[in-house]
Amino acid sequence: MQPLQLLASLASGQPVSGAGLALQAGVTRAAIWKQVEGLRARGVPIEAHGAAGYQLPWPLQMLDAERIRAGLPAGLARALGALEVHGELDSTSSELQRRGAAAGDLSIVLAETQTAGRGRRGRVWLSPPGLNLYLSCLKRFDGGFAALGGLSLAIGVIVLRALKDLGVAGAGLKWPNDVLAMPGEAGAGKLAGILVELSGEYQGPCAAIIGIGLNVRLTPALTLQAGQPACDLATLAGGVAPDRNRVAAVLIAALVAGLQQFERHGFAAFVADYAQSDLLRGQPLRLNGALGVFEGVGAGVDERGALLVRLDDGSVRRIDSADVTVRHA
Ligand code: BTN
Repeated sequence: MQPLQLLASLASGQPVSGAGLALQAGVTRAAIWKQVEGLRARGVPIEAHGAAGYQLPWPLQMLDAERIRAGLPAGLARALGALEVHGELDSTSSELQRRGAAAGDLSIVLAETQTAGRGRRGRVWLSPPGLNLYLSCLKRFDGGFAALGGLSLAIGVIVLRALKDLGVAGAGLKWPNDVLAMPGEAGAGKLAGILVELSGEYQGPCAAIIGIGLNVRLTPALTLQAGQPACDLATLAGGVAPDRNRVAAVLIAALVAGLQQFERHGFAAFVADYAQSDLLRGQPLRLNGALGVFEGVGAGVDERGALLVRLDDGSVRRIDSADVTVRHA
């Protein structure tokens, strides 16, 4: 039995006996135990309840391409180049990169788990099986890199639109595109990360691979491992994780509609929405980037997606790339 098959057998959240699992898979109970340990090591909190067997603390839905497709508005489903769900990949974005020219516009790849999930600035993106969403989308553009200013910020707005469609409130954007749960009763921290990678001709046909990691269900151990405050949809939704296939469908629908909007109107169509969710505006900031370390106050973003920072002398700096933290008194 493969680890993801075992996870699927436990997906109901009901206890399943080790003996039953072994019988079903035609392996020994020791082999099942080894798989359970493997899943635990990757962050899945499988409980052992003696004779009753193994159990997840809550039900989960394994990703299913047909169910995701069925959840898409008809027009949008037709616009997709491909919609693939994989068990395990190194990275959904790397998978689309390997496809190169063979991948159609608006191809979507999801995976239950990634063994080498990539975050921004060379960081690792933890990708435990079955709990969260790891999705990449290939979008082709004709107008060269100049037409793509603000794309990565626009994706942040698109993820927030999807959350709104799911009925999840209480999230905002930290420049450039971290989706954060705002401090409140439910908790605070990073809810989604976005990695946009470009290829192609500077002034000709080019492509963006847009990778989104959305936390649906974290455990305390995974939150600790993330190395930064993190939050999940389950927490924001009062403890019950939304169905992952529905989350994927709503996210893909928002992504396709949003990318078509970006293609026609550029970041200008997203500036107002970004401003409404900008968690850095008016905040005291510390920036670490090409200009060294300096401090200022967040003053919004410009039409290219650069961060505006007001300095002590009243002047405003445009920042295209930097690590930004909010200074706390
Ligand atoms: C960040 O550091 O905030 C960006 C994280 C992006 C993670 C996603 S998960 C799907 C896609 N595949 C990857 O390897 N990375 C992105």
